[in-house]
Amino acid sequence: MKRRVAILISGRGSNMAALLDAASVPDFPAEIALVLSNRPGAAGLERARAARLPAVCIDHRDFNGDRAAHEAAIDQALRTEGTEIVCLAGYMRLMTPFLVGAWRGRMLNIHPSLLPAFPGLDTHARALAAGVKLHGCTVHVVTEEMDAGPILAQAAVPVLPGDTPDSLAARVLCQEHMIYPAALAAFAAGVAGPNPAAAAALANPLPWPVAHHKTLQDPI
Ligand code: GRF
Repeated sequence: MKRRVAILISGRGSNMAALLDAASVPDFPAEIALVLSNRPGAAGLERARAARLPAVCIDHRDFNGDRAAHEAAIDQALRTEGTEIVCLAGYMRLMTPFLVGAWRGRMLNIHPSLLPAFPGLDTHARALAAGVKLHGCTVHVVTEEMDAGPILAQAAVPVLPGDTPDSLAARVLCQEHMIYPAALAAFAAGVAGPNPAAAAALANPLPWPVAHHKTLQDPI
């Protein structure tokens, strides 16, 4: 029995599209029951409608700053579609403890850094400023503390000379599109956990000369 998944977006929706593509495979253990955006102009809504999925906007601006009412409307929409798992995919609203609590243990998020490094915004620029050599992305369970829930999957990419926030973001995004469907599949099938079944991928091995690598491994 496939688990019913709702995807919450605010914009482009490329991770949403990756989840839709994965879920279109017959033996994927989850089906996308609903795509929900808080912004009417979110490009992901069109993509979802093109896939003939229920795609609705619950615009936070219609609630005049009443976060509780906005979240209650979202919660109602999720329940109406029989949602079992919620995937945040570029959903750019901070949630109150109400919505997080209502979906505790059933809400996942993808974050563009190797958590616990760089929670919050502007992760790629901050990674470059910090001079890290590895960066990446994380799928985690959502808890009250932002970007801090149990980690289900991570992928790492190298930071390369000349990288800009955009070039680094693009390299990370390719990995996001791989680990989010994989993490959702494992979670929906009931085999994902923070430990030790977490998936990990080290993408794009460092551009280290083979000869040098061999030298390092040679016995002295
Ligand atoms: C992604 O980088 C994701 O990690 C972050 O927001 C971005 C959303 O991109 N949470 P998209 O809308 O999935 O293309």
